[in-house]
Amino acid sequence: MKHIAVIMDGNGRWAVKRGRERSVGYRFGARALMRLAEDFLSFPISTLTVYAFSTENNKRDSKEVSNIFSVIASFLLSEVFPFCQKNGVALRFIGNLDALPDDLKQIVESNPAVSGEKTLVIAINYGGSDEILRAYEKMKEKGIVRPTEKDLYDNLDTAGLPMPDAVLRYGGYKRLSNFLPLQTIYSELFFIDKLWPDYDRSDIEKVISDFSDIKRNFGGNNA
Ligand code: FPP
Repeated sequence: MKHIAVIMDGNGRWAVKRGRERSVGYRFGARALMRLAEDFLSFPISTLTVYAFSTENNKRDSKEVSNIFSVIASFLLSEVFPFCQKNGVALRFIGNLDALPDDLKQIVESNPAVSGEKTLVIAINYGGSDEILRAYEKMKEKGIVRPTEKDLYDNLDTAGLPMPDAVLRYGGYKRLSNFLPLQTIYSELFFIDKLWPDYDRSDIEKVISDFSDIKRNFGGNNA
């Protein structure tokens, strides 16, 4: 197992259940992400991808969108960048980053170029269908007229990353919500019946252990 991808759902509900504003849930969700990042250092995987904001999240009211962006911006600067620098974790962003508000775009562009054995991938303004359209445009620009599957994968935002072995979704719903549709074709799906801010290390330890019992044949036979 190399790569785990996580859908961090249920932040707003976590806060509302406690009589707090939804934005409080995003701050606690970001703290849970930092706990996961610390745990990632000792998990036997090289890549961790988290879904921080989807293209569809732009349909929410503008105050909520700006609250989420402001939590993401402040945690990137105060927590994620220092964490990656301190621990030698490479950081990569996927999604339609050009369309982010200028201040967040500048922060994303100031990503400290750390190289390391582990990669943290943060999906911001990411949507699988949008990614496929952008891959199509990239291939057109490169003069690729009849793309192979390899061309397609090489032009996705995730080019060069391993395919996720497991996708975990928190928050109670059993759907992928436009998250890595082409990359998850053979991923094992785990639905964790908790709200994201309640993340605990044991959630992933259980997934890693359950995963080791699963026989994967990628559509081939079991030989
Ligand atoms: C969906 O849950 C989650 C989001 C729209 C945003 C998640 C973002 C974070 C946890 C912050 C990440 C921080 C960094 C630095 C990348 P929801 O709150 O919409 O869930 P609900 O309304 O269904 O409860």
